[in-house]
Amino acid sequence: MTENVLHNKKIVLGVTGSIAAYKSADLVRRLREKGVDVRVVMTKAACEFITPLTLQTLSGHPVAIELLDADEEAAMGHIKLARWADWILIAPATADTIARLAGGRADDLLTALCSASESPLAIAPAMNNKMWQNEATQNNIRQLRSQSAQILGPASGDQACGEQGEGRLLEPNDIVQALERLVVPAQLQGKHVVITAGPTYEPIDPVRFIGNRSSGKMGFAVAVAAAEAGADVTLISGPVNLPTPTGVHRIDVETAQQMHDKVMEYALHCDLFIACAAVADFRPQPLEQKIKKMGKQELQLTLTPTLDIVSAVASGDQPPFVVGFAAETNSVETYAKDKLKRKGLDMVAANQVGDGVGFAVDENELQVFWESGSQSLAMAPKSQLARDLMTLIIERYNAKDTT
Ligand code: PMT
Repeated sequence: MTENVLHNKKIVLGVTGSIAAYKSADLVRRLREKGVDVRVVMTKAACEFITPLTLQTLSGHPVAIELLDADEEAAMGHIKLARWADWILIAPATADTIARLAGGRADDLLTALCSASESPLAIAPAMNNKMWQNEATQNNIRQLRSQSAQILGPASGDQACGEQGEGRLLEPNDIVQALERLVVPAQLQGKHVVITAGPTYEPIDPVRFIGNRSSGKMGFAVAVAAAEAGADVTLISGPVNLPTPTGVHRIDVETAQQMHDKVMEYALHCDLFIACAAVADFRPQPLEQKIKKMGKQELQLTLTPTLDIVSAVASGDQPPFVVGFAAETNSVETYAKDKLKRKGLDMVAANQVGDGVGFAVDENELQVFWESGSQSLAMAPKSQLARDLMTLIIERYNAKDTT
């Protein structure tokens, strides 16, 4: 993103009582580097982790903490602060603050400010992974999203409590980048995007199947990017071991036939269909009982073609904008262009696969083709690559819409 979209923006940064509160010092610094006017509001618990003086020095403004303090109200009262902010960002946001916001509480300065404000709200959660997965927390997150709050992260990895998992505060730089994307108006607001991800498993018998190496990482990252762009996202996924992206409607399937059926149910009336799944091209006729070895020297399986899902969507009466992927071990451009044409796609995102690239890894690169052009997207984490791809898809989608 070249243009500095955060320049001169007025942001209230809410800091709550998490060990990750120390990162808010860096966050304030990075926001100020972008030309943001930052006013910090801390909960009392946050002051146990980082001093108000640190955040006051870095932000260049007094830090507000108390709701019922005449001096603080005189400086800039919570109602004035609520009106002043272009955005309210809470980072880190604890499970308790999230619960209190979802419940509409206004019993400290930060929650009172949020309930009195019409400014958009972004929340970067930070908590133990079990607390994050807790049903009550997830319900609170859903509730806040339904009120248009934007949830940034959390990230996954080592936690301060010694455990591993989802719940870490995003790094300050990632929070700033996420905010930059939010400040640009959501370009897919009101659009329904259907995405397929992951592999399919084609059963041979009750215990065996034919599968492939897709982990779902790329498709899930595309779903996150589409949700960040404001779309209503349906993610139809083969068997993967990934958490559902926040705010995304996920449907789990196993076989190519099941994926086909769900896609036909959801994609024929959507605005954009993105086929990232590695769907089996052939399947065996599954046997009802486990195949026994019993002296066999050879076993032959007869495979029959599966239905081509992306082609079926593209050849519908009023097809959505259709983006396919092409996974190739060689002649990437030639095969990708052939798929673009043969499958009737609007765009195709091609990647080299095999030898430890493409499948299952965290980084990837893409060559994207459409009828009148192409663009290479350089090697990057799949999360970033998905956002770059989404930007390109939106560009081509808008171009098609106006022709
Ligand atoms: O999941 P990851 O580990 O992150 O890996 C990402 C990825 C390598 C799987 C992804 O980037 C990718 O390339 N996905 C497409 C994989 C694939 O099956 O490509 P293909 O060239 O065989 O198929 C071309 C297109 O037709 C794809 O959009 C595919 O979804 C679609 N297809 C294929 C067969 C079929 N029966 N129905 C389909 O819709």
